Amino acid sequence: MDCRKEDYIAVFDSGLGGLSVLRELRAVMPGERFLYFGDSANAPYGSRSTREVRALTLRALDALAERYPLKAMVIACNTATAAAVEQVREKYRGTIVIGIEPALKVAADHFPAGRIGVMATQVTLREEKFDTLLHRFDGGCSVEKIPAPGLVELIEQGRGEGPEARALLERVLGPYVGRLDALVLGCTHYPFAAAAIRAVLGPGTALLDGGPGTARETRRRLEEAGLLENGPGELLMKNSDSSPEMMKRAYELLEGACKNES
Ligand code: DGL
Repeated sequence: MDCRKEDYIAVFDSGLGGLSVLRELRAVMPGERFLYFGDSANAPYGSRSTREVRALTLRALDALAERYPLKAMVIACNTATAAAVEQVREKYRGTIVIGIEPALKVAADHFPAGRIGVMATQVTLREEKFDTLLHRFDGGCSVEKIPAPGLVELIEQGRGEGPEARALLERVLGPYVGRLDALVLGCTHYPFAAAAIRAVLGPGTALLDGGPGTARETRRRLEEAGLLENGPGELLMKNSDSSPEMMKRAYELLEGACKNES
């Protein structure tokens, strides 16, 4: 299948989280046509079985590939990447497929002998892919796996910075206050709770996420393939929950100021 510069870059997540990656992608490639799909009707993925996440991911990407010409697929979901990136690559050999992973390398580069926490979903933390990543960097650093069940749901409801999120984060991160050099936000939803996370952990812990690295890698791969587009830029926003409230929330998160500054 021949791809063209003007084809879309599909950006996929279980819901609204991938918007934290989309904003990085648009920042480094403003002239591209993006097609965002969030599967909010089926979120969260992170507490499902690997098999279910794989089936949902393939179903969503198949539906996009049937309807739109795609030159790249960005799996802007650590959970879906952990469960399904190999199957997606296998199926879409003619398309550039990028999967986001927790930014452990960035953390290990900044804090070579540091204390690093990785906050992510249950699926991401239990998959073999994560253990492989962990063993590449745990020589010098000490790494803590930190699940945060319930946080994705609050962010999907637009309450990532509200009192419930703050209480949940105090419970989950309380034991780590003053004990981490960096916290890797290993779920693309979590940058939308960055202010609450920072409020709990304080200024001494750097917050790192995989969005900027994923955006740079996507650009690099498109450039290498001669597929970078320099047009007026376009965004098609889709969601399996297309209620007006969900679409409004999606645009608010995308354009909002709640950026992770570290
Ligand atoms: N945004 C997804 C991630 O990066 C997971 C959210 C979910 O549990 O659905 O892992």
